[in-house]
Amino acid sequence: MTEQARAHGTVVLAMSADGKIADRERSPARFGSTADRLHLETQMAQADGVLFGAETLRTYGTTLRITQPDLLQQRQQQDKFPQPIHIVCSSSGRLDPECRFFQQAVPRWLMTTPEGAMGWSDRPEFERVLVACSPAPPTNWHQIFQQLAALGLEKIVVTGGGQLVASLLEAGVIDEIWLTVCPLILGGAQSPTPVDGYGFPAHLAPRLELLSTQVMGSEVFLHYYLQSAPPPTNEEKLN
Ligand SMILES: NC(=O)c1ccc[n+]([C@@H]2O[C@H](COP(=O)([O-])OP(=O)(O)OC[C@H]3O[C@@H](n4cnc5c(N)ncnc54)[C@H](OP(=O)(O)O)[C@@H]3O)[C@@H](O)[C@H]2O)c1
Repeated sequence: MTEQARAHGTVVLAMSADGKIADRERSPARFGSTADRLHLETQMAQADGVLFGAETLRTYGTTLRITQPDLLQQRQQQDKFPQPIHIVCSSSGRLDPECRFFQQAVPRWLMTTPEGAMGWSDRPEFERVLVACSPAPPTNWHQIFQQLAALGLEKIVVTGGGQLVASLLEAGVIDEIWLTVCPLILGGAQSPTPVDGYGFPAHLAPRLELLSTQVMGSEVFLHYYLQSAPPPTNEEKLN
């Protein structure tokens, strides 16, 4: 029997030159340039869903929408809705319904545990509440990514943070990583990094293949493929 297809996972993050995705206060990471923002929008424009952790939402209070006219037009030509579905992953479900995210013009889903879903299922903030996360870790991400594909979400862009990315990498559902190296040093042993969690022993570390590099001003855009992922298509190599 052939295995059910899972959604394709692409992580897109900006980090300081010393590998931090936020400062020690975990404040919103706004150190990327306009080119980096455009890059993130470009990646999001190719996605059916944008997935991020609850802590990222609590930090920013909003999500990034696609605003570039050419990207919106591209989505229209592909018969896609203007914005991908924004999926918040929160095991606790503890989110502030007053935060600005809930006023933004984006479709919203919540991915949570049975406990986290309580109180959200009958409310208008989320179009869909996916009770997919396990109350006791680990969550079965492979199954969730299969479920997302079955719901028509074949391409998922993961926009952070480090905790969520760590679980997804561990589960083997990430196929590509985009890292923008930004020209600043944040330092701090407690500052978040692209992949937090427990970390991998070196002999089990996910291995990457470098697909492209681009320098724009003082920023470097790195595009990696996970070696365990199915080999990239020509289109993915070009993107
Ligand atoms: N530079 C960048 O590009 C960038 C992008 C995004 C974020 N950031 C920064 O990253 C920081 C936030 O990252 P973070 O690592 O602290 O948090 P995060 O990954 O955004 O969110 C963590 C939360 O997500 C939920 N979650 C994560 N993994 C889960 C799993 N496997 N199952 C169920 N729920 C799960 C839990 O929510 P509950 O607590 O509700 O249970 C958890 O507490 C902020 O400082 C932000 O500025 C930077």
